[in-house]
Amino acid sequence: MNTHIVIDARDVTLRLGSGDAAVDVLRGLTLAVPAGQRLAILGPSGSGKSSAMAVLSGMEQATSGRVLIAGADFTAMNEDALARARRGRIGIVLQAFHLIPTMTALENVAVPLELAGEADAPARAKAELESVGLGHRLSHYPTQLSGGEQQRVAIARALVGRPALIFADEPTGNLDAATGETIVELLYGRLAETGATLVLITHDADLAARCDRIITMRDGRIVDDTTDDTTTGAEAAA
Ligand SMILES: Nc1ncnc2c1ncn2[C@@H]1O[C@H](COP(=O)(O)OP(=O)(O)OP(=O)(O)O)[C@@H](O)[C@H]1O
Ligand SMILES: [Mg+2]
Repeated sequence: MNTHIVIDARDVTLRLGSGDAAVDVLRGLTLAVPAGQRLAILGPSGSGKSSAMAVLSGMEQATSGRVLIAGADFTAMNEDALARARRGRIGIVLQAFHLIPTMTALENVAVPLELAGEADAPARAKAELESVGLGHRLSHYPTQLSGGEQQRVAIARALVGRPALIFADEPTGNLDAATGETIVELLYGRLAETGATLVLITHDADLAARCDRIITMRDGRIVDDTTDDTTTGAEAAA
């Protein structure tokens, strides 16, 4: 079994807001995720799933504890260093797509490559959009795309830099069942090709069951952690 740990979070807390409005969103989160694992996070609304993802992906700084991502100490970095550490290594897919409205599909996908200084960004973005079945929508703006198409653009953008770690926060939450199924097949197909590690937040038990491991959160803590030894993703990362 591959024991390389990609996510190593130790006793992480997150307090948001101040004074009377302060909320202890994460209350001692400890989690180790080996390379290639597909991890699902379940839990009721408000249990801290998206917040956990924000801290583990370097979008939000923990209040205390340690977050090591591929050996890099995210808790010791300022915002600029975090942005650099994320670039090219971490892909993020959110429920609400978060595409840039003034950019075409092609431009949206090319952004992370351009930020990384890649000369062939447009060509690679085009190839990535073709691979998600959107070769005929390169020049469309987000408002001219359906929800499923926008989510495919968001997936292309998250994957185009071949990140070793992908976070997806309810990637099918805004889509009808059939479109959601297409998106899931696409995501898993791309994972199989790249061997990337996946952290998937979902309310869908069937979707979670396709992962190697399911953790359940409640009140900012992990209350259940179940690994399916028969499907562990270690072989994908070997
Ligand atoms: N900026 C903030 N200030 C104060 N509290 C916050 C802030 N952001 C989130 N919270 C609180 O943190 C808790 C966890 O929120 P989070 O978004 O992580 O939950 P979740 O598990 O992703 O829920 P859902 O399934 O509804 O998406 C919630 O109770 C929320 O109200
Ligand atoms: Mg959430």
